[in-house]
Amino acid sequence: MNKPAKHILVCGSMRIKGEPMGTCCRKGSLDLLQYLEMEIADRGLSDVTVSGTGCLKLCDKGPVMVVYPEGHWYSEVNEEAADEILEALSEGKAVEKYLIK
Ligand code: FES
Repeated sequence: MNKPAKHILVCGSMRIKGEPMGTCCRKGSLDLLQYLEMEIADRGLSDVTVSGTGCLKLCDKGPVMVVYPEGHWYSEVNEEAADEILEALSEGKAVEKYLIK
């Protein structure tokens, strides 16, 4: 695998001891991570990768997702929002209604 052009981070709510306990996890972020993995593959987005992270410290806005290198932070991301974000990503755009400003 080459270095990806875009990196999506999904809050997995991981804490120091490794167990997912935070808000994003309770709101389905781990299922969202799996969904994004499948969608990225299905859409043939070979220059995009996704990773789960520890708590991104914006718990009240969860599930939180970040797209780099753009630095777009998204709140309350579900599968429908993820679809919109992936479509916009292909065009180099953000989805304003989910952006954390
Ligand atoms: S648990 Fe996701 S931002 Fe804190």
